[in-house]
Amino acid sequence: DWTPDSFIETTIAELKAKLGDDKVVLGLSGGVDSSVAAVLLHQAIGANLHCIFVDNGLLRKDEFQSVLDSYQHMGLNVKGIDAKQRFYDALAGLTDPEKKRKAIGRVFIEVFDDAAHEIQGVSWLGQGTIYPDVIESVSVKGPSATIKSHHNVGGLPDFMKLKVVEPLNTLFKDEVRKVGAALGIDQNILGRHPFPGPGLAIRILGDITPEKVDILQQADAIYINNLRSAGVYDKVWQAGAIYLPVQSVGVMGDERTYENVICLRAVESLDGMTADWCHLPYDLLAKISNEIINNVKGINRVVYDISSKPPATIEWE
Ligand code: XMP
Repeated sequence: DWTPDSFIETTIAELKAKLGDDKVVLGLSGGVDSSVAAVLLHQAIGANLHCIFVDNGLLRKDEFQSVLDSYQHMGLNVKGIDAKQRFYDALAGLTDPEKKRKAIGRVFIEVFDDAAHEIQGVSWLGQGTIYPDVIESVSVKGPSATIKSHHNVGGLPDFMKLKVVEPLNTLFKDEVRKVGAALGIDQNILGRHPFPGPGLAIRILGDITPEKVDILQQADAIYINNLRSAGVYDKVWQAGAIYLPVQSVGVMGDERTYENVICLRAVESLDGMTADWCHLPYDLLAKISNEIINNVKGINRVVYDISSKPPATIEWE
């Protein structure tokens, strides 16, 4: 019978046998999967696991520092890299969602590769790939399904020439969370909603500027903090705010305003393949809307997305 403990025991033994004294480099994303993969590898090979955590400037508000702190608390050998400007430069002027994804994927590989080259004698790339990622990366290649290119799987540049080790590639998300809990990983990391690799870049429609990222981070933080304090966060599969570059008229005191829109999205789902919009309480939505409009400069209107997947997708891009 599968239990988290039996999985951990078997996997650590397998990793030790496979990796010996080899060095592994792994990119942490702040998400559940890469964190659990890192802790498993760390238990198997200790300081021979070198983790890299890149700040792409597209994470949630204050997320880079707080996640880096918790990784260090867990004893992981992790290097944080501030690459915000490289990502913003690469994204400047791009509006097409797939072009944005490709630019982010390319810069990530460049930044990661630079950092990996600083580690002497590394021969493996560790990845937090889980079973549904494996399925999805196969289906993306099929004739019908080139809907979005997920850059988490594949796309490994030739020049990296590393062997790949993926300790979670037989697990589903709920199993990953159970393994993570058995490994003693912080609930703050384990209970985290899925967050796309391209981050806030696909939650700002159209072109990305640091100013728009800042506005979205503020609105998103108000939204997520309210979901947490209302006790709703853990009941929602995924939530986030979206920045709509659409201006509408509002009124503030005696002044007419002409500002942008924030859309709130929250869905229930089992695996992200299909999803229903969440029926969040009206009182909670009202509170969040007021807080965003009163506190986030540049926003005068908040809307709630009531579309399910299919035919809508979870993300707007
Ligand atoms: P969609 O929008 O396709 O999203 O309904 C399904 C799930 O996948 C996530 N997602 C991504 N994750 N890179 C990622 O790592 C991406 O480019 C990407 N696009 C969507 C999305 O957040 C949801 O959990």
